[in-house]
Amino acid sequence: MKRLFSGMQPTGSPHIGNYLGAIENWIKLQDEYDALFCIVDLHSLTIDYDPAQVQERIYEMAAVLIAAGLEAPEKCSLFVQSHVKEHAELAWLLSTVTPISELYRMTQFKSKSDTHKKNINAGLLTYPVLQTADIALYKGEVVPVGEDQVQHIELARIICRKFNNRYGEILPEPQEKVSPAKRIMGLDGNAKMSKSLNNQIDVIEEPEAIWEKLRVAMTDPARQRRKDPGNPFVCNIHTLHTYFSTDEQIEWVREGCTTAGIGCFECKRVLADNIDQRFAPIREKARELLKDKTELKRILDAGAKRASEIAAETMDEVYRAMGLR
Ligand code: TYM
Repeated sequence: MKRLFSGMQPTGSPHIGNYLGAIENWIKLQDEYDALFCIVDLHSLTIDYDPAQVQERIYEMAAVLIAAGLEAPEKCSLFVQSHVKEHAELAWLLSTVTPISELYRMTQFKSKSDTHKKNINAGLLTYPVLQTADIALYKGEVVPVGEDQVQHIELARIICRKFNNRYGEILPEPQEKVSPAKRIMGLDGNAKMSKSLNNQIDVIEEPEAIWEKLRVAMTDPARQRRKDPGNPFVCNIHTLHTYFSTDEQIEWVREGCTTAGIGCFECKRVLADNIDQRFAPIREKARELLKDKTELKRILDAGAKRASEIAAETMDEVYRAMGLR
């Protein structure tokens, strides 16, 4: 079985973008690969955060992942990045073969520097080196991600190639596997759904909150509609229906919307109910897991144990190749 690695930052509760762009895909892939999934707490330190909330967020993320269908530790390994100290260690070693010009080119570095002008820290720049270390530590070959992470995986290939050219063929060049739902838009309808833009619906959101958010969500921008009349795909609500609704409902939306047969309110009401129905069992199971964290701790400990074993082997090889042993 090929080795697969992916990660998610515990910057908040997982949202619909994470769910459709990553989690759903992870659940499918756990059967096909030797899969390791990581809650990347070290990465999440690169933007402002409250230390008092970190543990809660890590557990909440783990609970949603397990409730959604990750079968750890049986079918895959789920662990927390900082529990395996080799991530930070390998990141340092890889930084010595990473051209700084490549880091400055990253669109995520540019956009985050723009959004967080008062906190442009070195970690924000070297973020993709740590991401490369995450994958390389397990000799990961396949990396399922949404579209926004593709540039980072391309850079991971460059870094691994440079390392191998200098020190010998040790780190496989990883390949991204872009999810079918590669870029879910936020409720504002004009940017990717993300916690930092506050345009998200969380997987464990209560039904009332889902409705409150959808009620005021952007539908189809009039300018685009004039350019492309009769195309329901310009409306983000329609796009969300394609992920959460039945074929009949999607057709009802298409027909009703393009003939003004139904209003946005009705259309959003059906979507809100469908999102709630899809996520209700996950919400309940996650709540249950969070009540007493013993089970989550067991899963994360087992994940860290397995990850540490693989990581130690890779580090031994890397240290020897670099002349440090
Ligand atoms: P993060 O935490 O921002 O997102 C986790 C995963 O969710 C996907 N995603 C989306 N997909 C579709 N539409 C959206 N609106 C959306 N928002 C998020 C992301 O593409 C990602 O797959 N740097 C990474 C975490 C990471 C990682 C790794 C990933 C650290 N080390 C190693 C792969 C391999 C990140 O910030 O993802």
